[in-house]
Amino acid sequence: MASKAAPCCRLVFCLLICAVVLRPGLGWYTVNSAYGDTIIMPCRLDVPQNLMFGKWKYENPDGSPVFIAFRSSTKKNVQYDDVPEYKDRLSLSENYTLSITNARISDEKRFVCMLVTEDDVFEAPTVVKVFKQPSKPEIVSKAPFLETEQLRQLGDCISKDSYPYGNITWYRNGRELQHREGVVNISFNKQMDPATQLYTMTSSLEYKATKADIQMPFTCSVAYYGPSGQNTVYSEQAVFDIYYPTEQVTIQVLPPKTAIKEGDNITLKCLGNGNPPPAEFLFYLPGHPEGIRSSNAYTLTDVRRNATGDYKCSLIDKRSMIASTAITVHYLDLSLNPSGEVTKQVGDALPVSCTVSSSRNASVVWMKDNTRLRSSPSFSSLRYQDAGNYVCETALQEVEGLKKRESLTLVVEGKPQIKMTKKTDPSGLSKTITCHVEGFPKPAIQWTITGTGSVINQTEESPYVNGKYSSKIIISPEENVTLTCTAENQLERTVNSLNVSASEYFISGIKKNAVDENREKVNDQAKLIVGIVVGLLLAALVAGAVYWFYVKKSKTASKHVNKDLGNLEENKKLEENNHKTEA
Ligand SMILES: *[C@@H]1O[C@H](CO)[C@@H](O)[C@H](O)[C@H]1NC(C)=O
Ligand SMILES: *[C@@H]1O[C@H](CO)[C@@H](O)[C@H](O)[C@H]1NC(C)=O
Ligand SMILES: *[C@@H]1O[C@H](CO)[C@@H](O)[C@H](O)[C@H]1NC(C)=O
Ligand SMILES: *[C@@H]1O[C@H](CO)[C@@H](O)[C@H](O)[C@H]1NC(C)=O
Ligand SMILES: *[C@@H]1O[C@H](CO)[C@@H](O)[C@H](O)[C@H]1NC(C)=O
Ligand SMILES: *[C@@H]1O[C@H](CO)[C@@H](O)[C@H](O)[C@H]1NC(C)=O
Ligand SMILES: *[C@@H]1O[C@H](CO)[C@@H](O)[C@H](O)[C@H]1NC(C)=O
Ligand SMILES: *[C@@H]1O[C@H](CO)[C@@H](O)[C@H](O)[C@H]1NC(C)=O
Ligand SMILES: *[C@@H]1O[C@H](CO)[C@@H](O)[C@H](O)[C@H]1NC(C)=O
Repeated sequence: MASKAAPCCRLVFCLLICAVVLRPGLGWYTVNSAYGDTIIMPCRLDVPQNLMFGKWKYENPDGSPVFIAFRSSTKKNVQYDDVPEYKDRLSLSENYTLSITNARISDEKRFVCMLVTEDDVFEAPTVVKVFKQPSKPEIVSKAPFLETEQLRQLGDCISKDSYPYGNITWYRNGRELQHREGVVNISFNKQMDPATQLYTMTSSLEYKATKADIQMPFTCSVAYYGPSGQNTVYSEQAVFDIYYPTEQVTIQVLPPKTAIKEGDNITLKCLGNGNPPPAEFLFYLPGHPEGIRSSNAYTLTDVRRNATGDYKCSLIDKRSMIASTAITVHYLDLSLNPSGEVTKQVGDALPVSCTVSSSRNASVVWMKDNTRLRSSPSFSSLRYQDAGNYVCETALQEVEGLKKRESLTLVVEGKPQIKMTKKTDPSGLSKTITCHVEGFPKPAIQWTITGTGSVINQTEESPYVNGKYSSKIIISPEENVTLTCTAENQLERTVNSLNVSASEYFISGIKKNAVDENREKVNDQAKLIVGIVVGLLLAALVAGAVYWFYVKKSKTASKHVNKDLGNLEENKKLEENNHKTEA
């Protein structure tokens, strides 16, 4: 339609444009629009009185115009040119404001509003800028882990559909990462979708991690221009597993080293402080210079004392990375000699030894019949009371459960030994004969009496203690009698006898003080029996009287007549006779 204008008008138009272009002070009027929004471009010209029509055109890069809308001032009608790019997107209002819906990148052009009168053409250009906010940046192609001392691809930061394209920045723990040779390598790349002309920006980060990067968040951002200026959007954080080599190997022992004893199972555990921790190690056992490859635990079962020594473990690929520990397998040996059941004769010598061999000093405790002994037993001459159950016990205090005990059951045997004693009753009527027997096993005692005399009382035996006991007999002999005590056990039979003279009573009759040793013995049995009966009765009477008198007297005069010891001569004979045995 501009072609319809007169040549003079064209010249003026041209001059006007030249004036606008050449005058930098005027500047371009710019409309900023968001992608997809409606671009609204006011005409920016005062509407002249004699206006015929208004027109909008845009200019191609080569400067050639393309007319897109027309509004007649007089007819009040609007026409849109058949430009496919703007089909159904244009709207020209009565005040010549042009609206373009659904802004595209291709709308970034110079548009010109033209108001035409009969003799003049007025033009006002407007530059359209379209902005598209990029998508929130995302870190993709993330490395599953980073390794120290290795420049590794960490990930790509990607932000899509931007116009104009934005810049991507990487951050570690909130601080911007700058390119550093060999440590940080950032490479940026942008791609334009030919259909939409929108850019997708990708920034690849290669990163050499250190242990300081453990738990450190990495982020990226995209900085872009929007209709109202510059903006920045940040990505989510990404944290990477940092792999680092083992710098130290440690070895652990189970159970605790102080308590290892023979028979235990020992587990050696090896640990490396790298990430990930090493899964396999070489274990070196004492006396085996070549390592055994195993997982991080190595178990030795039922160890013996010869397992004592230095244990080591190292990394498989770096044998200088090694840890070592000394293990002592505690042991405790106890040897009791003799032990078990031992039978010895009384008087024998018996050396006893309890020796301990141990990984530590161990003390020995002796017990006899559950009573603790002060010192270890040793017998130069066994006695019956030495018999019993001896236990030698030892323990290692440092090592729980390490205890040993051995026992010795000592039996002291002896042939029967007899010792007889006699005691005369103060009345002189009865005599007490005691047979003391010593021997083991317990001898049986038997009494025999030759001659006449009545056994008044045969008391119970005394308890058998330490191989000794005794049997007592009380007799009242009418004549000299011989008492025989026989003691017998599995080893021997021993006989001992004692001559006992007749009781004073039977010798002296009623008179108690006149003892005549030379008097003839009355042999008549009948007389004797009567004598005994009468004598017993009288003796009882006399004894009672004498006793009463004696008590009274001793109370007043303190005169004491001791007759407990009996006949001195008899006791002398008894001594001589003791220890005489018969087979
Ligand atoms: C032109 O008209 C539109 C509506 O028709 C209105 O929104 C706009 O403000 C007007 N512009 C001027 C410069 O008068
Ligand atoms: C940095 O990354 C780019 C692209 O990945 C690569 O071509 C270049 O070799 C890298 N530079 C170094 C020093 O690795
Ligand atoms: C992107 O970086 C270039 C070069 O440093 C700079 O000129 C431009 O303004 C930046 N763009 C944005 C959106 O920050
Ligand atoms: C040692 O390990 C074996 C099996 O390997 C087990 O039978 C035994 O009871 C363990 N011994 C101890 C003292 O734990
Ligand atoms: C340790 O001694 C036992 C016998 O007590 C033997 O079987 C074993 O082989 C020995 N082990 C080593 C490592 O010498
Ligand atoms: C063990 O006994 C030896 C010799 O009797 C002594 O030198 C050593 O100090 C003892 N050790 C301990 C731990 O008691
Ligand atoms: C024998 O003596 C005991 C105690 O000495 C006595 O208890 C018992 O009665 C006496 N027996 C006779 C028959 O005298
Ligand atoms: C009885 O023994 C005594 C000495 O012990 C002796 O003097 C006396 O003659 C003996 N009597 C008879 C009848 O044997
Ligand atoms: C006991 O008396 C008898 C004779 O009566 C005599 O043969 C014997 O040797 C005497 N025994 C002792 C131990 O005195």
